[in-house]
Amino acid sequence: MRERRVRIGAVGLGGRGQGQLWELMSIPGVEVPAVCDIYADRAAEGAAKVQERLGTQPTVYLDHSEMLAKERLDAVLCCTTWITHAAIAVDCMRAGCDVAIEVGGAASEDECREMVRTSRATGKFCMLLENCCYDRNEMSIFRMAREGVFGELVHLEGGYRHDLRDEIAYGRENRHGRLQNFIHRNGELYPTHQLGPISKLIGINRGNRFLALRSVTSKARGLCAFLLREKGAEYDLTEQVFNQGDVTDTTITCANGETIHLVHDCTLPRPYSRGYAVQGTKAVFQEAPLGAAVYIDGVSALHTWEDFEPYCKQYEHPLWQAYKDAEQHAGGHGGMDYLVLSAFVESVRLQAPPPIDVYDTAAWMAVTYLSEQSAAMGGMPVPFPDFTDGRWIEREPFRRGRYCLEEICPEFFA
Ligand SMILES: NC(=O)c1ccc[n+]([C@@H]2O[C@H](COP(=O)([O-])OP(=O)(O)OC[C@H]3O[C@@H](n4cnc5c(N)ncnc54)[C@H](O)[C@@H]3O)[C@@H](O)[C@H]2O)c1
Repeated sequence: MRERRVRIGAVGLGGRGQGQLWELMSIPGVEVPAVCDIYADRAAEGAAKVQERLGTQPTVYLDHSEMLAKERLDAVLCCTTWITHAAIAVDCMRAGCDVAIEVGGAASEDECREMVRTSRATGKFCMLLENCCYDRNEMSIFRMAREGVFGELVHLEGGYRHDLRDEIAYGRENRHGRLQNFIHRNGELYPTHQLGPISKLIGINRGNRFLALRSVTSKARGLCAFLLREKGAEYDLTEQVFNQGDVTDTTITCANGETIHLVHDCTLPRPYSRGYAVQGTKAVFQEAPLGAAVYIDGVSALHTWEDFEPYCKQYEHPLWQAYKDAEQHAGGHGGMDYLVLSAFVESVRLQAPPPIDVYDTAAWMAVTYLSEQSAAMGGMPVPFPDFTDGRWIEREPFRRGRYCLEEICPEFFA
């Protein structure tokens, strides 16, 4: 069956935006009539990609407001810098477009509230593109949890532990958005990669919610040490005061009693890890330095970790099974980028609620500004706003489908 065509504009064409645009165009039925970046060369590069992949010439814009005023779009893919996501999302919804924004945190409560208010007022959706919700391990863990392997979930952990010293430190040379954030801010700047999957596991915004948060941060030494080694003492940023501590620890408490521990760690040498851990009354999963491991009470040898891979296969999510069967392995980040973009396009096409909705988007992004407030007060707990205004207690039913993140819906994989 031929898919209904959807017209999607692409805003923000740095490294991530170019990759996501390319991936987006691999989804059948997607048209890209417009591309936009404040840098003309990046916008032109995006246009060339559209020409190469779809054989059409999009209109190039340097200002998203002009694009929204002139184009007739169904939706917008926004891959701009962290502090611009919320405002652009609001503009898109007001212009009658659904919108997907790349991941990052919010700088204020008002940004989050405005996204929610606008989505409700316009009927347009705002979906955070949290690709890690669709990663293979995360989806198998989700299935294990829904099938009761972990018992009742008690404690969850995750982090963004990614050595990004060169990307951040050379932000001026690369025209990259992170540098100014690391100079001026201090807190959990990138909370959603593991918080997304965790939130879906424990029903945040659907019968559960974040109650309070506390954050502490370490001193900041990694970037200056790196620059001194790489550039020598004469390079101006070697004496820069970076506010952002090298390691930020955040603990979130939830209405149903779970605790969540997040770690942000991007400016010290280390191999990549999201440090995912899921602990319940019957089992524990842990992403460890040398591989993921699981321990199941009464199944694993006493006090002995087991390799997670056999369980990952046994509990493969049908979406991953279908993805592997279709042999679409070329996708970014092992396939999760393709899956999260497919979820977005499906919701645009069906004019239906996305699996990550505006309440999820607001709550997950809010961790950043709340963590900055808590860290500034030496780790004082701060209350978590309820962006659903009580709807979390009794929500409308979620939409079932292949990309559903609330339950597995086998009827869509028959
Ligand atoms: N999900 C993932 O796995 C993943 C991976 C990498 C990056 N990201 C996220 O993607 C986003 C972009 O990352 P990046 O590394 O490409 O950053 P970047 O700073 O290199 O690129 C951002 C681009 O947005 C443009 N931009 C900023 N404001 C704009 C505006 N008002 N209108 C139009 N364009 C504007 C900038 O000119 C730049 O080209 C960030 O939120 C980042 O956290 C996600």
